[in-house]
Amino acid sequence: MSNYPAAMANEKMANMWNSVVGPAWVDHASNYDAGLEPHGHAVMDALGLQSSERVLDVGCGTGATTVELAARVDPGEVVGVDISSTMLQVARDRADRAGAANIAFREADAQTAELGAATFDVAFSRMGVMFFDDPVAAFTNIAGSLRPGGRLGFVCFQDPSRNPYLTLPGMIAGDILQLGPPPPPGGPSPFAFADATRTTDMLQRAGFADVQLVDGVDYFENGDVDDLGELARSMLEQNPMTNQTFSTADTETQTAALAAVAEALAPFRSGTTLRMDAATWIVTAHT
Ligand SMILES: C[S@@+](CC[C@H](N)C(=O)[O-])C[C@H]1O[C@@H](n2cnc3c(N)ncnc32)[C@H](O)[C@@H]1O
Repeated sequence: MSNYPAAMANEKMANMWNSVVGPAWVDHASNYDAGLEPHGHAVMDALGLQSSERVLDVGCGTGATTVELAARVDPGEVVGVDISSTMLQVARDRADRAGAANIAFREADAQTAELGAATFDVAFSRMGVMFFDDPVAAFTNIAGSLRPGGRLGFVCFQDPSRNPYLTLPGMIAGDILQLGPPPPPGGPSPFAFADATRTTDMLQRAGFADVQLVDGVDYFENGDVDDLGELARSMLEQNPMTNQTFSTADTETQTAALAAVAEALAPFRSGTTLRMDAATWIVTAHT
């Protein structure tokens, strides 16, 4: 059971993904779609999706995975659920452009929304499940939406020490921006499920069996990087751990932070491609 009244659950995250981080994801969508693509493919391949299956895309964001899942299970159906109306608007436009008739989007909190009992064969997520304030309640809700024997598959980040793509901008700009302490281990953040033991326990408590974590893609690559300052901006704006502080800083502070991060990124660029370590887990389980 959730410790949070439904109306209060994930209020802070809903606000952040609608009014702070969400618009940054929309602005930099093509950059992140390209970098995240191999991570999403790794989960889809692990799930062994079949034609005609019904799939729930949890925290579907701007819908790149929803459109791809719909193509993989066609004529099956995909429902993309996200808490951010800002990001869902891009997702809906993307699905329209793709002409995908087997997609529905819902603006809803995956932790508390009525998702439909035993409705889906598969629950999928690419980096969209690490922001729940009560993960057991959220995954219990997701488990309830799966038919018996339904599969869960998601990708999430491993330990911060193995993820310079995410941590380096904050480390470099930390003093300039006067960033606060990192989020607590296990709390809502990109690293919520970094600890394999804790994550396995959490999913078992939510009703999942045969929980497995295996190494996923271990890098993040950006192509067409002409301007490292622009990339630094996108990294600082889009990361939930730095966005608020960066976007509310004065211009002089922002300029100093961007210059410092751009300089630190330079060794990771070859030609116009920037590649950095970004270790992930592919997590699978079933009901
Ligand atoms: C890191 S983004 C990933 C977006 C997308 N899955 C992708 O790979 O492009 C995290 C997404 O999770 C969504 N999210 C966070 N908390 C959520 C919740 N409680 N219910 C539904 N979506 C949520 C955010 O709005 C955001 O779109």
